[in-house]
Amino acid sequence: MYNQSELKEVVDKALFNLPYNTEAHKLIDPVKYVLSKGGKRLRPVLSLMACNMFTDKIDEAIMPAIGLEVFHNFTLVHDDIMDRAPVRRGLATVHEKWDSNQAILSGDVMAFIANECIVQAPSSSLVKIFRIFNKAAVEVCVGQQLDMDFEKAAIVREDEYLRMIELKTAVLLAASVKTGAVIGGADDRDSDLVYEFGKNLGLAFQIQDDLLDIWGDVKIFGKTAGGDIVANKKTFPFVKAMEIAKGIQLTQLQELFTVKDAEEKISRVTEIYNQLNIRDVTEILAHDYINKAFGFLQKVSVDETRKKEMTNLAISLIGRKQ
Ligand code: IPE
Ligand code: IPE
Ligand code: MG
Ligand code: MG
Ligand code: MG
Repeated sequence: MYNQSELKEVVDKALFNLPYNTEAHKLIDPVKYVLSKGGKRLRPVLSLMACNMFTDKIDEAIMPAIGLEVFHNFTLVHDDIMDRAPVRRGLATVHEKWDSNQAILSGDVMAFIANECIVQAPSSSLVKIFRIFNKAAVEVCVGQQLDMDFEKAAIVREDEYLRMIELKTAVLLAASVKTGAVIGGADDRDSDLVYEFGKNLGLAFQIQDDLLDIWGDVKIFGKTAGGDIVANKKTFPFVKAMEIAKGIQLTQLQELFTVKDAEEKISRVTEIYNQLNIRDVTEILAHDYINKAFGFLQKVSVDETRKKEMTNLAISLIGRKQ
């Protein structure tokens, strides 16, 4: 069995060796920039780890896993335009370093590079793998649409929030583990269980991301602190705070919607979150989803020893700071 760091090495090496069209420097430079500047490589590592639960031979799962990482990075390039985010992984985002048009086009080409990686899945499972990928890719766009729509909404319910993050984030983690499982030879029952595991892990992951956007260590997290507050994002902390705030706190939260000064807005919203113990409530919900994920993993019909690495990875995500 491979451990997490061994799999990350496999992923980094394969990403480094991706071939590019060398005459298109302007188009490809941002792609190389994005793909070479860190990132946890969570989706491809999860994919290979899921494959490894079912077989010792993970070679055939490598290129599809790389495709999922390239697709993820493509969504980040466009997401950063949409979210007006200046920093990612501690560096200037593509639209800041170049410009938005460049970020759109270099992002576009990444989507097709991702496709070219995924098409290298073994022919016996190719159609299945592509359907898993295409379904997730469309769902991510639907989730991103909701995320944008919610910026303008005054109130978003918890169930609406959960559906939005399921689509924008969780389905790609779910598709990643399912892809690996299918290539590893999992039957329909197991690959569906693995999908549900990944989905719940993904929900916990995005809830944690919302938390880190407010309370994270900027140097480790690599993104601008409070960006979600400034952009009026309907994160879990915000949704929860609106639900439990009463009287003056509620009025203040509603009014903050219109505050223009970023620093003032971040500090006042964070103060209300702190008064309402929102951080604790957020952590509890993330834990609930990790536990739910484990419930699905337990039912997968492989020996417990083959689930150990996956279990460790899921636990480490809950305490993550990056
Ligand atoms: C960022 O994903 C986008 C979310 C879904 C929260 P990651 O936190 O996996 O980003 P990298 O790839 O490690 O930078
Ligand atoms: C990420 O949501 C979802 C996708 C990129 C599809 P966020 O907007 O919260 O991700 P970060 O915080 O910018 O990484
Ligand atoms: Mg976003
Ligand atoms: Mg964003
Ligand atoms: Mg975020």
